[in-house]
Amino acid sequence: MADFMFVLKNFLVVSLAMNMCLIWKISYDDEETLASKWSSWGNLQQKLHFHGSCFNGEKNNGRLEDAHVSKRTQILPTTSSGAATVVPDGGESVVINLDHGDPTMYENFWKQKGEETTVITSGWQHISYFSDIKNVCWFLEPELVSAVTRLHKVVGNAKTDGRHVVVGTGSSQLYQAALFALSPPNASDPMNVVSAAPFYSSYPLMTDYLKSGLHKWAGDAYKFNKQNPYIELVTSPNNPDGSTRQDVVKGHKGILIHDLAYYWPQYTPILSPADYDIMLFTVSKSTGHAGTRIGWALVKDREVAKKMTTFIEINTIGVSKDSQIRAAKILQAVSDSCDGDESFFDYSYKLMEKRWKKIREAVDKTELFSLPDFPPEICSFSGRSFGQLPAFAWLKCEGDVDDCEGFLRRHKILSRGGKHFGASTKYVRISMLCRDSEFELFTKRLPAIIS
Ligand SMILES: Cc1ncc(COP(=O)(O)O)c(C=O)c1O
Repeated sequence: MADFMFVLKNFLVVSLAMNMCLIWKISYDDEETLASKWSSWGNLQQKLHFHGSCFNGEKNNGRLEDAHVSKRTQILPTTSSGAATVVPDGGESVVINLDHGDPTMYENFWKQKGEETTVITSGWQHISYFSDIKNVCWFLEPELVSAVTRLHKVVGNAKTDGRHVVVGTGSSQLYQAALFALSPPNASDPMNVVSAAPFYSSYPLMTDYLKSGLHKWAGDAYKFNKQNPYIELVTSPNNPDGSTRQDVVKGHKGILIHDLAYYWPQYTPILSPADYDIMLFTVSKSTGHAGTRIGWALVKDREVAKKMTTFIEINTIGVSKDSQIRAAKILQAVSDSCDGDESFFDYSYKLMEKRWKKIREAVDKTELFSLPDFPPEICSFSGRSFGQLPAFAWLKCEGDVDDCEGFLRRHKILSRGGKHFGASTKYVRISMLCRDSEFELFTKRLPAIIS
C-alpha cells in the first residue's frame, strides 16, 4: 500500500510538472506568435522593452527611460552602421519603437571620427578606486574636469567658475545624489519633490523607488501649495515637450535642481551661460554616448557637493574610471571639432533640423495630430536663429482620440503616453533620437494613418 501511494504521488507530481510545461509553452508561443505577426522577420534579440510605468499612486512596475531588453516589442533591424536591412513589405509590418530616448542618431558622426576617439586601456591602468584625493569628489578623473570645463566655455551654456564638479553614473545617479544631499536627515516628514507637468517620466520613480523616508514625490509643481520645504526639478529644455523652463513654485522654502541634459545647441538656441546652484548634464544626450553612463553635476555649494559625493561613495564606491576617460576623450573631441570645418554641433543641429522639418511635414498632411511651435531665438553659440528642436516630439492626437498611445500602437508605433509625464492621454512623447531608418519609416507611416 505504501509503495502504491509512493508511485501515485510521483505520478501526480510528474503529471503536474508536464501540465505546467504545456501551459507555459502555450502562453510563450502566443507571445512569439504575436511578435511574429507584427513582423515576420528581423533580429528578435534586438528588442527594446519598458515595463509599465506610473506616477502618483498607480501600480509601479519600474519603468525607466532607457535600456531594458524586451521579449515583446520588436524594432526595425538595422546594420551596425545604422542602415536598414531590406524590408520585405515596405516596412508596413514593422513595429516602430519610439518610446525610449536611446540616442543612436549620432552614431555615424562618431564613426567618421574613427581613431580620433578611440581609447586604449592597458590592464594595469585605472586600477585604484581613487582619482584625485584632494578633490571633494575624490573619484573624479582630472581629465574629465578639464574636458567638461573646456566644453562649457566653448559652447557658453553653463558657468563653471567656482563650481565643484561631481561625476555620476549617468545624470540619473546624480539626481538621486542631489536628493540625498538636499533632504534633511532628521526631518519629521520626507522632503517634497516636485516638477512642473509634463515632467520627465523617470523622476517619480527615481524619487520614490527606495521609499527612503528622506524624500517623496509630490507631483506637479503647478499644484504644490504646501508651506513645507520642497525640492523643485527644473528641466530645461524640458523632457517631454521641449519647452524652456523656469521654476514655478517660487516659495521661500524651495531648493532647485536644474536638469540641463538638453541645454545644447543642437536642441535649443543657447541664450546665456546657465548659472544655477545645482546643474546636471550628461553625455547621454549631449554627445549620444548613453552607454558610457557618465553625467556630471556643477555644484556651487561645497557641502552639497560633498554630500552628493558621499551618496555615490555609498551607492557605487565611485564611478568607472574607464568610462570617465572615454567621456573625457569624447568631450575633448567635441570641443576640438568646434575649431574645425564641421563641428559636432553643426552636424547634430542639421540632423535635428532635418528631422523636425520631416515630422512637421508628416503632421501637416493629416488633421489627426498636432505639434507644439517654438518661436525662433538667436543662439549665442552658432549665431543661428531657430526655434527649439527638441529631442522628443510632444505629439497631440486631435479630435476624439483620447488614448493617443493606444491609437498609435494600433498602427504599430510605440510611444510613451501623456499620463507617464503627469499630462493628458491625448499626448504622446515620440523619440527624435533614433536611427535614420526608423525615423524614415515613422514619417512615412504617420500621414498614412486615417483612423
Ligand atoms: C531630462 C533627463 N534627465 C536625465 C536623463 C538621464 O540621463 P542619464 O542617461 O545620464 O542617466 C534623461 C534621459 O533620458 C533625461 O531625459
